[in-house]
Amino acid sequence: MSTKLGIIGSPVSHSLSPAIQSAALRAAGINASYYRWETPLPELSARIASLREQDCLGANVTIPYKQTVLPFLDEVAPLAGEIGAVNTIVNNQGQLIGYNTDGSGFLAALEESGFSVAGKGFLLIGAGGAARGIAFALRQAGAGLLAISNRTPDRAETLASEVDASPVAFGHPVSLYDCVVNCTSVGMQGPDAKAALPYDLATAKPSTLIVDIVYTPEETGLIKSARAAGLPCLGGLPMLIHQGALAFELWTGRPAPIETMREAAREVLSSSEHQS
Ligand code: ATR
Repeated sequence: MSTKLGIIGSPVSHSLSPAIQSAALRAAGINASYYRWETPLPELSARIASLREQDCLGANVTIPYKQTVLPFLDEVAPLAGEIGAVNTIVNNQGQLIGYNTDGSGFLAALEESGFSVAGKGFLLIGAGGAARGIAFALRQAGAGLLAISNRTPDRAETLASEVDASPVAFGHPVSLYDCVVNCTSVGMQGPDAKAALPYDLATAKPSTLIVDIVYTPEETGLIKSARAAGLPCLGGLPMLIHQGALAFELWTGRPAPIETMREAAREVLSSSEHQS
């Protein structure tokens, strides 16, 4: 029987998940199709209900529904419950179980880049679903100093109190940290967007790793500034690949073909660069 999967969000047109998951399913010889499920809010409930169908393995969830979907699920895995955000839903015989692979995907990407988390100081920019996943993952992995800043300060305060972090002002100096992580969607506006984040990278220690979790464009405004300042940096692609690999393993129970997934993402990114 052919089965289906998809990504639920709005917008989902930019998402690389269909390409990487389709490539992974093909490489693993699994007869399933992965769809883009563009979902306006009034259709969210019906969309989630449709995941219970026998031929559906589950779904990914993206902006803006990672927090909204929780009440629609039958069960939420402990880490996803703590985070309060779900990016992966598994259909287990009509029962929907929510997971969060963003945080673990982020840790796997940092590890792959050679950066070890234990005892290091982090400044997170953003306090949405993605930031929550990363903040809880960093705490669990033994991060030292953890500071959170957000355009809307209340959200930073709430998240900081949950992960024993310090809420700091939007635009806070980056000089104290070993790693700065942009967990906002600002980078999606493109490298030359006027809406640059108000952080001065010139004051960073030379070894400070600058991370942007956005992967389209692959070089966001923040990554461009980091490169210009000579700082080490990491774009959102490795995290996307690792969160996708963990989701694939949850849906299929099979090891994810990580290099196939990475190649598929790179192929789409390079062809869309040629078009624009
Ligand atoms: P996700 O689940 O992907 O994290 P989200 O919950 O909608 O999505 O969170 C988006 C994050 O990007 C938030 O931290 C948001 O800041 P606010 O809490 O102030 O809304 C941040 N963000 C989005 N657009 C922004 C902008 N133009 N400037 C600064 N921060 C922005």
